[in-house]
Amino acid sequence: MDKKELTEKMPAHVAVIMDGNGRWAERNGVSRLSGHNAGMLAMKEIIKRADVMGIKYLTVYAFSTENWKRSQEEVGGIFNLLVKYVGSELTELHENNVRVRILGDWRQVPKAAVTSIEKALDTTKNNDGLQFNIALNYGGRQEILHAVRTICSRVSSGEIGISDVTETMISDALYTGEENGKIPDPDLIIRTSGEERLSNFLLWQCAYSELAFTDSLWPDFTPDEFENIVHAFAGRKRRFGGR
Ligand code: FPP
Repeated sequence: MDKKELTEKMPAHVAVIMDGNGRWAERNGVSRLSGHNAGMLAMKEIIKRADVMGIKYLTVYAFSTENWKRSQEEVGGIFNLLVKYVGSELTELHENNVRVRILGDWRQVPKAAVTSIEKALDTTKNNDGLQFNIALNYGGRQEILHAVRTICSRVSSGEIGISDVTETMISDALYTGEENGKIPDPDLIIRTSGEERLSNFLLWQCAYSELAFTDSLWPDFTPDEFENIVHAFAGRKRRFGGR
């Protein structure tokens, strides 16, 4: 496939389940938090490569609504990493015209992380390069519930009738909808660490997504592997239910 053909078929939106930080830490004899730190370094490199490749939207699953079940130390450590990440990378992200968006119930996360997020959102709000979406305190079912409640309140106020509810209306009421500038559904979802499931990630949006799984643990996942997976995807034909 030549370069032009590849560009034409380049997915607009790639979403990533960054799994395996804990196993990487265990294998390397370091703390789980060191594993997440290594995961953050891997994430930085993937963002850069996605940008170079001309991908328009990159979404990462950083913290799920289920992740609160982990120890306080680990949860606190992940949010501290987010603060550290924004502190050290925001200037460069902004210089590279990257726009940061957050998917999920992020106002409920620890205060220092909320403050960092607000800064990242505000600083990058006029950027129109790569859109980097961080799913944070995100759950797919919870997102659908939130959308259903929004639509139900419009029905109960009499603004719309039940038969007026459409698929587009549901899409628009999701975190990926109007509140975040209508992010297209992911063309490709990649999960690392050998697990082959979606774990409550983008449940509505994944209807026609291609899925790619790799045994690499997230901190070992390299930009070259990312690029290879995306190029392999570019060679697949998507039929969206048609022929
Ligand atoms: C999954 O690995 C990873 C997470 C729950 C956290 C992801 C966080 C980062 C990559 C840190 C940086 C992110 C930001 C946005 C600053 P796991 O802990 O479930 O691994 P395991 O299944 O091997 O235990």
